[in-house]
Amino acid sequence: MPSPSTSGRPRVFVARRIPEDGLAPIRDACDEVVWTGELPPSRSELLAAVAGCDGILTMLTDRVDDELLDAAGSGLRVVSNFAVGVDNVDLAACAARGVAVGNTPGVLTETSADLAFALILAAARRLPEGDRLVRSGGWRTWDPLLLLGRDVHGATLGIVGFGRIGQAVARRALGFDMTVLYSNRSAVADDIAGPLRAQRVDLDDLLARSDFVSLNVSLTAETRHLIDGDRLARMKPTAVLVNTSRGPVVDQQALYEALHHGVIGGAALDVTDPEPIAADDPLLGLENCLVVPHIASGSHATRGRMAAMAAANLLAGVSGRPLPTPVA
Ligand code: DGY
Repeated sequence: MPSPSTSGRPRVFVARRIPEDGLAPIRDACDEVVWTGELPPSRSELLAAVAGCDGILTMLTDRVDDELLDAAGSGLRVVSNFAVGVDNVDLAACAARGVAVGNTPGVLTETSADLAFALILAAARRLPEGDRLVRSGGWRTWDPLLLLGRDVHGATLGIVGFGRIGQAVARRALGFDMTVLYSNRSAVADDIAGPLRAQRVDLDDLLARSDFVSLNVSLTAETRHLIDGDRLARMKPTAVLVNTSRGPVVDQQALYEALHHGVIGGAALDVTDPEPIAADDPLLGLENCLVVPHIASGSHATRGRMAAMAAANLLAGVSGRPLPTPVA
């Protein structure tokens, strides 16, 4: 266990290198240790690193639970998660110990929606297949039948989870003249859904009618395997499933079967279960499945804003002030 900070400054652990926009203010105010490995700390490294900390800045790859909170000790005041999703954090365990939890909502909405839309376009127009064909020397001539895809403009987009990011995906769909359906636990106010020309339907109806289905829900006990074999079977055989939420929202084995047997037309995934997906996972052998490595919020500007926001939560927490963006 590290000795207590002698400087009188808060002691914090930052679980990965983050942009300077966040590191600089942390360095100015705290005795900080930053994990500089390319890979996350192992569990034992993480448990050792947080001992005696007043605050921890965690990634979505770090599980925050009783064991970690015990390892940190009773001086821990705040967990600042460098993500909007907090499914890696046991919120009840933190609340029980009076440890504040912050996240990074809002700043990544548009960037994440950009990627969801990029995946829709890439899958519809078969961009990865085209790129692979060209690189392999297989492009021999212009061909009227080469790599025909699906139109995005004028198609029906179903958005599962109509929070900030889901709505931002819908805004992009307006420019493509798409019909937008959404499913959500509660109806979204007319002054939001109206201008987006988005109609609320139940999930099964959405799956049956959509050409593209975008998953934008948080991962909770209710949404784990929300898209299972039965739900996939309700989709059109030409439909494309786009997941930028969390991998476990989809039953990945059922998705493989559905793609392999033509139950649905394609999938484009920013998230998998587990992460990273194994290089020999059968999904990666399918031409109709596109996978990118959880990069939805990955623009320079947005990661900088996330870092600044996560730092602001951390610094507020260690000094006992209310967090700017606490997890509700
Ligand atoms: C989040 O913030 O939850 C994202 O998945 C990280 O990009």
